[in-house]
Amino acid sequence: MKLTVVGGGSTYTPELVDGFARLRELLPLTELCLVDPDASRLELVSGVSRRMFAHAGYDVRVTTTSDVAAGVSDSSAVLLQLRIGGQAARHSDETFPHACGCLGQETTGPGGLAKALRTVPVVLSVAEQVRRHAAPGAWIVDFTNPVGIVTRALLNEGHRAVGLCNVAIGFQRRFAALLGVAPASVQLDHVGLNHLTWERGAVADGVDRLPGLLAAHRKELAEEVELAPELLDLLGCVPSYYLRYYYAHDEVLAEQLAGGQSRAQAVMDVEAELLAQYADPGVVTKPEALSRRGGAFYSEAAVDLLASLTADRGDVQVVNVRNDGVLPFLPDDHVVEVPAVVGADGVAPLPAAPLASPAAGLVAHVADYERLALDAALQGGRSRVERALLAHPLVGQHERAARLTDLLLDANRDHLAWA
Ligand code: G6P
Ligand code: MN
Repeated sequence: MKLTVVGGGSTYTPELVDGFARLRELLPLTELCLVDPDASRLELVSGVSRRMFAHAGYDVRVTTTSDVAAGVSDSSAVLLQLRIGGQAARHSDETFPHACGCLGQETTGPGGLAKALRTVPVVLSVAEQVRRHAAPGAWIVDFTNPVGIVTRALLNEGHRAVGLCNVAIGFQRRFAALLGVAPASVQLDHVGLNHLTWERGAVADGVDRLPGLLAAHRKELAEEVELAPELLDLLGCVPSYYLRYYYAHDEVLAEQLAGGQSRAQAVMDVEAELLAQYADPGVVTKPEALSRRGGAFYSEAAVDLLASLTADRGDVQVVNVRNDGVLPFLPDDHVVEVPAVVGADGVAPLPAAPLASPAAGLVAHVADYERLALDAALQGGRSRVERALLAHPLVGQHERAARLTDLLLDANRDHLAWA
């Protein structure tokens, strides 16, 4: 099977290669094609990928190209992990909102909108190439953030796409370790929008173990998502780390304003180290430095998803999928992040218990923003950008939305065809 990674020059690619090699029985590959406009990265990343496959005794041909159409041609699945503007654009997303008293983050708030605007048109053009040149029925698996908005853009255009994030698999592994059981035996009641999710349950052997986990480990679980244990008590569930940008907004903003590196700058340092290792012919396994990136377990999640889509396993995985009534207060075509049955026909979300307040209000609010964000990304125009910002719960006020719009457009003109 040929598989293509668009954004294959990413330093994350060896994470995927490691997963493909470890889980080869689940997903037998013959070719891995890396597509990227950056030839020097492609050379380094493909080099280490070839050595990793060879070291694992796994006969996979690693090919490279900057031409999307050629790269996706005859592929059975295409993974999207591109980042328009690279870490420099991310640094801008993480800092431009500060001037307006807003926090900077690559997927949440004004920075997330900037990323959506830069990304959606490119992803849709890649998807068109997939439609034309990939193998019939090929799947698009999108890791490209903001995953909820990007996946909705793809689904609305009729692409066979599933959005993926590693937050859920991270919790599944964490809970399984605390319970002393195999990860696959833990079924999460994970609900929300991408990067706006809560773990409401963790069923193992037919019993919801989350109340017990919260009773025994509330402090460490709270610490891991950088929120107060009292908040977990109050909610009766475990919010993802990304909820910190809402529940501890002022604290995060104060930390960011106090200075120090942006996450983009920290990632640039890790990437420089990683690329130097990828260039070293002696490096034949996934370097330890990769664990300093946020994408832990994402290769497992990707392999699991692709294996179920291609081999029709019909198991349950947390994915980004069309809502279709799962959260009845959202439109059917909204994209939600919930457990779904994954098989050759696609992903079918499981019914979810009603989402309680206060989570429901926040989800509705952010979903409203996401819809306006996609309108802005698809159609362009200053007022659409401003409207999306006004709708975001972390922005809200008119003056602030107007100023942020100016800052966002100034910082992103090179990446927006219409600006
Ligand atoms: C998590 C999120 C991803 C995000 C990543 C950032 O894995 O689920 O969507 O891209 O963190 O990690 P980084 O190392 O780039 O900060
Ligand atoms: Mn994610």
